[in-house]
Amino acid sequence: MSRVFSGIQPSGVPTLGNYLGAIRNWVPLQDTQEAIYCVVDLHAITQWQDPADLRRQTREMAAALIACGLDPKRCILFVQSHVRAHAELAWIFNCVARLGWLNRMTQFKDKAGKNQEAVSSGLYVYPNLMAADIHAYHATKVPVGDDQKQHLELANDIAQKFNHDYGVDFFPNIEPLIQGVAARVMSLRDGSKKMSKSDPSDQSRINLTDDADTISQKIKRAKTDPEPLPEHMAGLEGRPEARNLVGILAAITGTLPENVLREHGGQGFGAFKSTLADALIAHLSPIAAEMKRLLEDQAALDAALRLGADRASAIAEPIVAKARDIVGFLPSR
Ligand code: TYM
Repeated sequence: MSRVFSGIQPSGVPTLGNYLGAIRNWVPLQDTQEAIYCVVDLHAITQWQDPADLRRQTREMAAALIACGLDPKRCILFVQSHVRAHAELAWIFNCVARLGWLNRMTQFKDKAGKNQEAVSSGLYVYPNLMAADIHAYHATKVPVGDDQKQHLELANDIAQKFNHDYGVDFFPNIEPLIQGVAARVMSLRDGSKKMSKSDPSDQSRINLTDDADTISQKIKRAKTDPEPLPEHMAGLEGRPEARNLVGILAAITGTLPENVLREHGGQGFGAFKSTLADALIAHLSPIAAEMKRLLEDQAALDAALRLGADRASAIAEPIVAKARDIVGFLPSR
């Protein structure tokens, strides 16, 4: 049994991209691996968050994860800032990672845009904290969407340099688990951009809390091209928006894009979008309802997260204590 770790930022309501690219794949791992999942609030504040919104969104994210099928009894589910080991190991990793490595991170460049001088230094060292999240547990498998691949390569570089610099074999190599046809769900407004919680246009994404009418409208308005759907995958070449919608239907109905085209090839987008909207509504409505129910009992949700943090700390504390010792810090007690 391997130890699995993954995280998600509470910087908004989870999107269909988060769900299909990550969360949905986290659910079965609870039964086959030792699974640890984290709402990463330390990561969220690398870009300014209103404190009241952050509190609300952290609970909403935890409720969404449980509603999607994570069971706090079958996995460890917790909030990152509750376990101090993350920030502590991140500092050590800040001193291991090289500036040149961080300069190559495409996500930093995307997020910082043209205004690199004005973003927080936290945003720059974000991947070091992510490496600490994983290595604080000696986790070896990390289920994520495609956009996190570069960060995970950096996490391996950091582990190797730490091991090399201190002459130890302490942090293991990690393996990204990037699964399925929906490892990169694209924006509904622009097939060249990934669907994101932080896109200024709400029309660009499906949120897990969207009601049936909103889902229908967003899918109806999704950008497409004037051609009907092709019958074969080759016909999706150069048609990113069409490819995205076909991929979403395939992922949500548990089939392959080839099969979606076999069934719907030749159809215009009007009919196809209505099938897609119906499938999304059928799949997502029960999740939204369960999330709402969970948020009605905030005390129970908070208690589950505290318990998760205790279990997480019990694993991470001894590992990070050993890292402190390897680095040469005096014992604190
Ligand atoms: P975040 O919060 O941006 O996204 C959470 C997960 O959702 C995936 N994802 C997508 N998958 C497919 N299509 C999309 N459009 C899409 N958008 C997001 C992401 O790949 C991710 O798996 N840095 C991470 C959080 C993190 C983490 C970690 C992950 C912090 N520490 C340690 C793994 C291990 C992030 O910002 O994810």
